[in-house]
Amino acid sequence: MISKPALAATALVLAGQSSAQLANAEDAFYTLQGWYNPGSGIWDGDGWWNGANAFTVVAELATAAQTKNDSSVTQSVTNIFANTWVVGPSSNANLPDSERTLGQYDSSNSSVWGGPAYDDNGWWALGWIAAYDVTKNETYLELAKGMFDDLANNAWGTRCGNAGVYWNSDHSYINAITNELFLSIAAHLANRVPDNSAYYIDWAEKEWNWFATSGMINENNTINDGLTEPCTNNQQTAYSYNQGVVLGGLVELNKASPNQSYIDSANTIAQAAIKLMADSNNVIHDTCEDEGGCFPNATQFKGVFIRNLLLLHQASPNDLYATVIKACAQSTWDNNRDTSTNELSINWAGPFVSPTNSSAHSSAMEPLIAAIYL
Ligand SMILES: *[C@@H]1O[C@H](CO)[C@@H](O)[C@H](O)[C@H]1NC(C)=O
Ligand SMILES: *[C@@H]1O[C@H](CO)[C@@H](O)[C@H](O)[C@H]1NC(C)=O
Ligand SMILES: *[C@@H]1O[C@H](CO)[C@@H](O)[C@H](O)[C@H]1NC(C)=O
Ligand SMILES: *[C@@H]1O[C@H](CO)[C@@H](O)[C@H](O)[C@H]1NC(C)=O
Ligand SMILES: *[C@@H]1O[C@H](CO)[C@@H](O)[C@H](O)[C@H]1NC(C)=O
Ligand SMILES: *[C@@H]1O[C@H](CO)[C@@H](O)[C@H](O)[C@H]1NC(C)=O
Ligand SMILES: *[C@@H]1O[C@H](CO)[C@@H](O)[C@H](O)[C@H]1NC(C)=O
Repeated sequence: MISKPALAATALVLAGQSSAQLANAEDAFYTLQGWYNPGSGIWDGDGWWNGANAFTVVAELATAAQTKNDSSVTQSVTNIFANTWVVGPSSNANLPDSERTLGQYDSSNSSVWGGPAYDDNGWWALGWIAAYDVTKNETYLELAKGMFDDLANNAWGTRCGNAGVYWNSDHSYINAITNELFLSIAAHLANRVPDNSAYYIDWAEKEWNWFATSGMINENNTINDGLTEPCTNNQQTAYSYNQGVVLGGLVELNKASPNQSYIDSANTIAQAAIKLMADSNNVIHDTCEDEGGCFPNATQFKGVFIRNLLLLHQASPNDLYATVIKACAQSTWDNNRDTSTNELSINWAGPFVSPTNSSAHSSAMEPLIAAIYL
């Protein structure tokens, strides 16, 4: 039996670790804000979808800090939501120039956050749901609902089984990420729109039932990028974010409509992903790090995996997940940081490479934020 003082000491050490993680994440947030452009509503150097991810990161930080009764970043983060709400669409290159000036668009019009690439819509919808989680501002939830309906109306019903969503408006490529986003948005909305949860549960279930047997999940339970013309696995890189978004989708679906098979599938995918992507120190990597960098988009991917691994860990705790999250947090802070600026770069095992940018930096903040909960 452990004596009381020893228990208290253990609790103190644990609290100390998580508050150190909170301090690190907040330091990294202030560094991230060096890139935030109040005129564009996104972070300088980021593209449109990366911007949605940095937006999600700051929302998650506010939520995580609030669980520790720390609201020191809440006001700044709420201000980011309000500012990006107003000016964000002016940075959406998918809109015609004539509609991209302030006053020419209505921010509550779901179309002004999207474009022909349906995954862009998906990232922003999840970003606004994260903003809703911090603020409980219904305006943000309404936008996300509109963005979901756009996807259901325009993207759903592929040539592969007349279900699932296409990647973009050409209705040609069918990829994993767009389908995982569709699942995740539907499942998140099912838990946040009580008067219409059956509608969102139905969509999430339809998506998952199709996805699980679409061929996208390979024999090793990792998820490749997409499908071939005749609807088989295209063997393209199993990027980290493709192993991530589905986890959060299944966790939220299980919350809205419990079925152990959702959690079992998420655990199978998560464990296969860790086997594929973790190094011997439990630090997650994308293969593009060794192939001359992850320019321009894959810099965002690993953070998305960790964000969703945390959701799975909270629903189905597993020492492996906690170990991976903590290892990534510690390593990116100790080995992948410019200690004078607190900038973080692409390889979480290090070393820090200069110059970095808001995409790689915001992605590397995800393990710092997730570790706040551990
Ligand atoms: C946060 O504050 C609430 C209400 O005062 C308290 O019950 C809770 O224990 C606090 N949580 C932490 C992590 O300090
Ligand atoms: C909700 O968000 C919108 C857009 O940022 C803002 O105009 C409105 O004041 C917010 N509502 C509340 C209650 O804060
Ligand atoms: C919403 O925005 C799209 C894209 O800019 C535009 O074509 C459409 O007319 C807008 N809808 C409304 C109701 O304003
Ligand atoms: C599955 O794993 C085995 C063993 O590592 C490997 O040889 C095979 O190529 C993998 N298959 C896929 C589709 O990734
Ligand atoms: C749980 O989900 C699985 C897989 O989708 C399905 O076969 C099963 O019927 C579901 N169980 C219930 C009780 O709905
Ligand atoms: C990077 O993302 C942007 C925006 O979604 C897209 O236009 C571009 O094609 C992507 N680049 C690559 C190499 O995937
Ligand atoms: C962002 O920085 C990382 C290094 O952290 C680099 O690999 C990547 O190419 C940069 N992206 C852009 C768009 O410059």
